Formats: sequence, structure tokens, C-alpha cells
Amino acid sequence: MNVRILVVGGGGREHAITLALSKNTNTDLYCVMGKKNPGIAKLCREVLIHPETDVGAVLAFAKQQNIKYAVIGLEATLAAGASDVLATAGIGCIGPSKAAARIETDKGFCRNLMQKHEIDGCPTYKLCTTSKEAAEYIRSYPGDLVVKPTGLTGGKGVKVMGEQVDREGAISYAMTLDNQTIILEERLFGEEFTLMAFVDGKTLVPMPLVQDHKRAFEGDKGPNTGGMGSYTLADHTFPFVTDEDYAKAFAIMEATIAALAKEGCPYKGVLYGQFMNTADGPKVIEFNARFGDPEAMNVLTLLDSDFVTIAEHIISGSLTPADISFKKQATVCKYIVPRDYPEYPHAGDPIILEPHENAILYYANVIEEEGILKTQTSRTIAFVGVGADLAEAEAAAETACQGVTGNVRHRTDIGTEALLAKRVEHMKELRG
Ligand code: GLY
Repeated sequence: MNVRILVVGGGGREHAITLALSKNTNTDLYCVMGKKNPGIAKLCREVLIHPETDVGAVLAFAKQQNIKYAVIGLEATLAAGASDVLATAGIGCIGPSKAAARIETDKGFCRNLMQKHEIDGCPTYKLCTTSKEAAEYIRSYPGDLVVKPTGLTGGKGVKVMGEQVDREGAISYAMTLDNQTIILEERLFGEEFTLMAFVDGKTLVPMPLVQDHKRAFEGDKGPNTGGMGSYTLADHTFPFVTDEDYAKAFAIMEATIAALAKEGCPYKGVLYGQFMNTADGPKVIEFNARFGDPEAMNVLTLLDSDFVTIAEHIISGSLTPADISFKKQATVCKYIVPRDYPEYPHAGDPIILEPHENAILYYANVIEEEGILKTQTSRTIAFVGVGADLAEAEAAAETACQGVTGNVRHRTDIGTEALLAKRVEHMKELRG
């Protein structure tokens, strides 16, 4: 009998998860998603179109479909306690408990945990319970700060002094965050990278390094987005991350999982570490309790092992590095987004795709009406190009993106050799 697996979430990341699971033909796949993602729906036996944070409805659907375990894509579903609720019915989960997911959902919890357990890579920080307290701290702090609420913001709640706002702008922003706990952190300088790992409670197995691009426009300009695209290199690392940096980043993630276990919150699922590689080595920008979006599309495209076996070993606590291998190829993921995303995205605009046989298409925030794809207000679709090297992967993704017509755009610079060279040069300058 086929194993029945439920995916929760309807974005590009969840399309990549569903596609990776579907490669095992002994599966029957199901999905709960807020809107019908046409790519996911095609891979599933049945879907429930319903808000993913309604964990009571997720449980009812899982029981009705006799689901063995669920893979949770979205942080908001974890924050709502999906893993705990499913556990009450004996349904396993790739995604941590609500308590363990605080590593993402409560940035104050994350920093306090790192500090208490003396985990490396924690920037100096201050938690403020009122915006007045935050404003006073910002005014008196000698350097630049990063201002964010401690709760979930979909990646769009961060303001970096000296980059997006000046001191007065940071204060004004903090004043808009009243009734929320605000975290103020020292601004980090360097190059960002994402390290994700599968975690079975104690063992972590890393995935290839990925670099995401948060800013809306070419040259890392404009407002923050959910992520405009990302790339991996064929050797799964980056020239601006040394072996020592990598080892430190992975050790930080292992120490964090051990600390969570000591605090009574064992962690099963995917741990996402967003690092800033600074002159002094990697520092944690934040942890997430699930795959990154877009990063999932890079790494799951490369996954060479059976995702179903990995999931089962996560649930049974028997994960080993031998379970997991990735193709030694480069990937470039580029998101097509509504033209005025993220500030004034227009929904309902038709898009037309040309044939794109050299890139993998992942559907995201898009609906299909009478055979026509239409934009919604978030990222629309993504193309992942795969190649022997970055140039080949980038060309494949870019050609596919150029074949899309409609009121949409994408970042043409993601995955280009020129952008990578800029990152390498920046790191050299920082390290002297
Ligand atoms: N790529 C950033 C995130 O998934 O949060």
C-alpha cells in the first residue's frame, strides 16, 4: 500500500517539496493550501483549499485521508501548533513542535537561547517591550542597528540602519511597532548565506549552501521581499565561505539543536540558518523552522536521494548522512513576480509562458482560470535552471524567465558570474 503524505502550504517551496516526494512512486500525496497551486494539485490525489493555519482543519483532513505523516512548509502553520496537533492523532510531522519552532517564531527566544547556551555567532541584541524603550536605545546606540519585531513578519519586517533607514527612520519604524516586543541587534557586515539541514532531534545532515536575494531589484536595491531568487554552486559551497566558516556555521546549528533538546524542545524537521559571513566568521541573522523559499527549490531540485526515506528517518529519529546526497550541479532559481511587487502588486493579470524545457517550473502564488495563469499579490512562479556550472544554470533560468509575458518582472542579475564576483570581492575587502 502506498504511503499517504500530506503537504501543508501552497507556494513554490511546497511545490518543490511535493515534486521531491512524488519521485517515490509508492506515495499518495495530499495537500492543504490556501489557494489552489496548479503544480501541486496535479501531483496530489486530493487537496483541501483552506487556510493553512487552521490546524484543526489540517488534522481533520489528515485523519480523513489516513495520512501517515505531514511535511509542513509554512512557519505560520508551525506557529499554530500543527506538529503538536497532528501528534495527538499519531500522525508524524516534518516540522517542529510549536515550542521548538520558537527558534523562528520568537526571535527573542532564539537570541536568549543562544546566549544562555553560549552558542557562537550571536550578535549583541536588546529586547524592548515598548517602542518608547526601543526609540531611546536607538537614539543612544553609537552604531547602526537592525530593528525588527520578535514575531513572524514574512521576511518583510526588518529595517537595517544605514541601509534602508537612517537613525530617525529607525526610530519612526520602532514607533510603528507598539504592542509588540522589538528586538534591536547590532548591524552585521558581510555576505549572507543560507545553510539548511535535515534534523531528526539530534542528528543534522546539511544541504548545499544557498544564497537568497531579498531585495526587489537588480543590484540588491529596493525594498525587502520574500526572496527574488537564489543559487547554489556545483561544489555546494561558495568562494566567499571558507571551510572554517562552513564548519563554524554547521557547529552553531548543531549546538542550537542540542540546546533546544536540553530545554525540553527536541527538534525534528528542517532547520534553516541564515548567516552573515563577517570579517570574524559567520553570525546568525536568524533561524527558520522550515525550508527557505526560494532556497527549497534549489536544494530539492538537486536532491538525489529518496525524500520519503529521509522523512521517515527524521520521524523515527534514525537519520544518518548516508541517507542524503545531492547532485553535484549548480542551480539558479529566479522568481517571476507582479511588476509592482512587493509594494503595489496587482492580482488577476494573465501571464503566458513559452516552452521552457531547459528549466524546471515551480508554481507559487498563481491561480489557473479556464487554462489561463493569473497573478496573485505575492511571488507568481519560479524557474530553476540546472547546469554543470553557474553560467549554464543561470542561462537556463534566465531564458525561461524571458519567455514569460504579462504584467510581471524578475531580477535578471541573480546567479550571474558578475554578481558572484562582487560578493567575492566584498568578502576580500572585509577580510583584508
Ligand atoms: N528565503 C527566506 C525565507 O524563506 O525565509
